Amino acid sequence: MCGIVGYVGFREAAGVLLEGLRRLEYRGYDSAGVAVKVNGRLEVVKKAGKLQVLAESLKERALPGTLGVGHTRWATHGAPNDPNAHPHSSEDGRLAVIHNGIIENYLPLKEGLLQRGHVFASETDSEVLAHLIEEKYQGNLYQAVRLALQEAHGAYGLVVAHQDSEEIVVARTVSPLVIGLGEGENFVASDVPALLPYTRRVIFLHDGDMAAIGKEGVRLTDLKGNPVQREVVEVDWSLEDSEKGGYPHYMLKEIYEQPWVLENTLGGRLREESATAELGLKLDPARYDKVHVIACGSAYYAGWVGKYLIEALARVPVEVEVASEYRYRDPVADQKTLAIVISQSGETIDSLEAIREAARKGAGTLGIINAKGSSITREVDDTLYIHAGPEIGVASTKAYTAMIAAMSLVAVWMGRAKGRLQDQPAAEFTAELRKLPRLVEEALEERPEIARIALKYHQASDYLFLGRHIQAPTAYEGALKLKEISYIHAEAYPAGEMKHGPIALIDEHLPVVVLTTESPLYEKTVSNIQEVRARGGRVIALATKGDSEAKKFAQDVIYVPRTHHLLAPIVSAVPLQLLAYETAVCLGRDVDQPRNLAKSVTVE
Ligand code: F6R
Repeated sequence: MCGIVGYVGFREAAGVLLEGLRRLEYRGYDSAGVAVKVNGRLEVVKKAGKLQVLAESLKERALPGTLGVGHTRWATHGAPNDPNAHPHSSEDGRLAVIHNGIIENYLPLKEGLLQRGHVFASETDSEVLAHLIEEKYQGNLYQAVRLALQEAHGAYGLVVAHQDSEEIVVARTVSPLVIGLGEGENFVASDVPALLPYTRRVIFLHDGDMAAIGKEGVRLTDLKGNPVQREVVEVDWSLEDSEKGGYPHYMLKEIYEQPWVLENTLGGRLREESATAELGLKLDPARYDKVHVIACGSAYYAGWVGKYLIEALARVPVEVEVASEYRYRDPVADQKTLAIVISQSGETIDSLEAIREAARKGAGTLGIINAKGSSITREVDDTLYIHAGPEIGVASTKAYTAMIAAMSLVAVWMGRAKGRLQDQPAAEFTAELRKLPRLVEEALEERPEIARIALKYHQASDYLFLGRHIQAPTAYEGALKLKEISYIHAEAYPAGEMKHGPIALIDEHLPVVVLTTESPLYEKTVSNIQEVRARGGRVIALATKGDSEAKKFAQDVIYVPRTHHLLAPIVSAVPLQLLAYETAVCLGRDVDQPRNLAKSVTVE
């Protein structure tokens, strides 16, 4: 994902920026750029491609100066080319903006700016910030940024330099920023590795924080301008640790990245005014009268959740199938079928072959993919990227919730295009979608309780997971996560099906995780739990906050925030990921590289 570095001090800024960006390369990017203040003027160099391309340009055009900002961009809005690379300049060229995240209301902002005569040089949402800050600027950069952020909404890690300012101004909401403190120099970056060659004293900004960073000091405020205090932390991470953001495992880091990943997946694609999703796809959703969803593993469970979403919101019948079966069963697909393939890596051979099979039958093909430019993206008619950033832990976490978020967008897109999702329910659903990043942040707060439960049951030899309706796939995903990384045998069942067989397994040794979040089937799920309790089973309920009943029928309860019942799989996946993680840690397993598994399965 995008990387940010900013510097004010006594060294040559360009060197500090390039070195910092190099240390963020593992996040993935497709263009890079810097802006440096040279003799009182801001000069920008930015290039599509790898940092090496930028470094070569900087050899030809040296930028001597001690204040600068740099960026590596992973394209979301607009192709990975030179104009779309950051920094983005104001029209007068006096200020430069670097931005990670998505400005959700950039379209209306851009319209206003165009009407006021601004001319845009890129297709990005970020560029509106440069123009907006330019409009607000009256000699005080900090004030101009603060005023602009009263109008721009969404996610941002924002870094701004102005040729008349000795300070860099930064602000954070959702997208991380960390300030590095030096002697006679200070730094800012999206991630700690960029700072490590220079300092280990850092301040992690919180949501809603702003800072003015000069070479002799840093002023921290909130977005209203009130001073805020943040702890100065001494990091003692190795480079490898810091790539993990200080987390002991990539998997945990990736679990914690989910709030801003969801912001990336959803942001900029929801249209509040029309309560719809704008996906920028060529495919015409109104053309299709059935949907086939094809995927493997966790992506398959995300697709299964997608079935409920599309059928509920677009009233189009959906079949979901594991790709390795689909490809060999001569499926009934034609020009009226939309085949959706879901894959984090975009390289899974079964998924690739299955979507080829659908295409051979004449189906329209849509990829819901994380890895840019991967094989599947080159074969499908259209790709909807989930924008989850590199997922390094072998067990999928952030890609899973981002896939469901993407399927929610597809459901809204189809439902609206087919005229089957009316204004009111569309507005309600999209408003709930918007809240997801914050809700997932809240769900993460349950980790201490989940760690306690994991410890209590980590010696169990088996686990059972139960859920109904749209939470049935969540139960399967919870079981898959647990078995993948802890090697504990885990099974999942739709809760209502338990009495038809698996109930025989229940005894006082079997922990049973039951998804009892609010839904039209709540009562029925509760009676399924009573069946478990009556046979001595140990129940761990996953319930909606405020549900006072849950503790009456469960030994342990994990609470998740309230959301639309069709979005419960996203907030519920998070504690199940943590349960698997904490259990695997108790058992001393290799969390990031569990035995026998590969991140990208390119063999049959
Ligand atoms: C589960 C997991 C696997 C993948 C599956 C598909 O944690 O990681 O089950 O979900 O191999 O991979 P992609 O999404 O790359 O096609």
